[in-house]
Parts: sequence; structure tokens; C-alpha cells
Amino acid sequence: MPAISESAPGKTILFGEHAVVYKRPAIAVPVEQVRARVIITALPACNCQGVQLIAPEINLKTDLAILPVNHPLKAAIEYTLDALKINHLPSCVVKINSTIPVAAGLGSGAAVSVAIARAVSRFLGHPLSDDVVSDIAYNVDKLHHGTPSGVDNTVITYSRPIYFIREQPFEQITVSKPFEIVIGNTGIHSPTSETVSFVRSKWLANPADIEPIFDQIGQIVQAARKAIETGNPEQIGKLMDENHLCLQTLGVSSPELDQLVYTARRTGALGAKLCGGGKGGNMIALIEQGMGARIANALLNAGAVKVIQTTISAHA
Ligand code: PMV
Repeated sequence: MPAISESAPGKTILFGEHAVVYKRPAIAVPVEQVRARVIITALPACNCQGVQLIAPEINLKTDLAILPVNHPLKAAIEYTLDALKINHLPSCVVKINSTIPVAAGLGSGAAVSVAIARAVSRFLGHPLSDDVVSDIAYNVDKLHHGTPSGVDNTVITYSRPIYFIREQPFEQITVSKPFEIVIGNTGIHSPTSETVSFVRSKWLANPADIEPIFDQIGQIVQAARKAIETGNPEQIGKLMDENHLCLQTLGVSSPELDQLVYTARRTGALGAKLCGGGKGGNMIALIEQGMGARIANALLNAGAVKVIQTTISAHA
């Protein structure tokens, strides 16, 4: 049997992180330049080696059976078997590679889960639908941080720009004019679970102060959707700046993120903001065509450890 290979892209949240956990809308797009890939190779039936998991980027080489049940890679495989109502994965090697930076707001965990669900179900001869794949990735994400909004697994599974409200069917966004973004990584490891619980404790302590920030972010997201659909990059950039201000007020920016955001703006970006959980991880800047190299260099000089340039293509 030939090896089965599946992959899934990274993602970035253009607008609405954190508020999306509290049922305000968010806009997210796939980042195709970085991907998680899963390759499954069958072992001969007489070979009772079970399932071998290899993930070089996290120095993992192990027998699936000895991983704890809540290990995200094991959970993704087990949830896939549950969805297929199959209780056993035949002997095989599951190799996971990813170019998506971990814990940096680019959806690495969800992308690995999506690629696992697709590869395992295809390996077993029953490819799962996107809806089921997305649910599997959502359930794995719940193990990492109890209250994920579901935006990561959705944008990564469907691999196109989305307008997302928690617990509602997502909407695809029309991108009338492609636009370019530069993503700058602070190199600071910042687990989403921690920033989500930080915001939750602020909200619990003082909902009257925090709810209006969520409302304001929701309004920015709605305006951004219009700007994306009508192809108005100046307006998209301005709204990114406003969104960043809200995230600063929520307390999830950091000096390193602010430094990259201000550098991008000073170097000519149309707008810039942190993206994802914050307090580290990545920021994004909307740029005019041809400005990519200049802004990428400025970000590297200002402390970014990695820069990714990506184009959000037109989508009808
Ligand atoms: O850090 P990321 O890219 O996983 O994004 C987190 C986005 C949040 O809104 C902070 C959390 C969520 O579940 O939507």
C-alpha cells in the first residue's frame, strides 16, 4: 500500500481574536506558506510493532500506545477512530512534520490535528468530511485550552478566508482584491491557553470594563469584512491599527509585539496588529505591493526572529 500523505496550512487571525471567545465575530485566513504534513506508511501485517509516531520538530519518536490519552497527537488519532467507529489502527508509522511555528498564533496544533484526521481516515479507506475533520481538531484544541472559539480548526480545515462567530455556521468571505501581509514572529513562546485565561480573569473580575472592548472589536470586525469585500486596503489597515489598540487595552500585547507593530507602521505598512493569543507569538502588517522585502527587513532589524510574507488571494 502506498504511503498516505495529507497536509494543512497555518492560519492567521486578521481581526477579532479574544473577543471571538465571547461570541463576537472574527476574520481569519489560511497561511499556505507554512504547513503541517502527516505521512502514514503501513507496516507489514505480520509485524506487530503497533503504531509508531515520529514528530522530529518536537523530538518525538514513540509507540502510540505509551502516550498519555490527553496527548494531542494521540487524541487526534483516537478521535478520528471514534468518528469512524473503528477501534484499532493497523501497524503503521505516522510521521508528522510541520513548518508552522509552535505556540506562535499560527494554528500549528489545529493544522496537525486536521492533517492527522485526514491521513488516518484515508489510510483506513474512509476519508472523513470537512465538518467531521474540523470537529476533531476542535475537540483536540479543547484539551489544550478549555474554551477555544473554534476559529482555528475552521479556517484551517476549509482553507479559505472566513467570517466566524462561535457556535454559528461560519461564512466565507469574498476577497475582491488580493492583499499582502507580512507576519513577524517575536520568538516569544506564548501558549494561547495562558492568554485566554488571562483575559477570562480580567473579564470575570470586571465585566463592565471588558465587555465594551469586546463590542468595539466586534464592530471593527464588521467594518473590516466590508473593507475586504469592497477591496479597500487603506481601510483594512486603519482597522488593524484600531484592533491592536483594543488588544493593548485588554493587556495581551507586549513590548516586543508593540515594537514590531510600530516598526511596520513606520516603514510604510497600511496597518499592523498582534495576531492570535498575544503576549508573544506573532504580529501581522498589511502592506502595499512591492513593500514586502523592505518591511520584512525592518521587522528582522527590530527583533523579529522569523518573517513570513503571504498573499491573501481573491476569493469569489
Ligand atoms: O493563538 P492562536 O492563533 O491559537 O489564536 C487564539 C485566538 C483566541 O481568540 C485568543 C482564542 C480562540 O480560541 O479563538
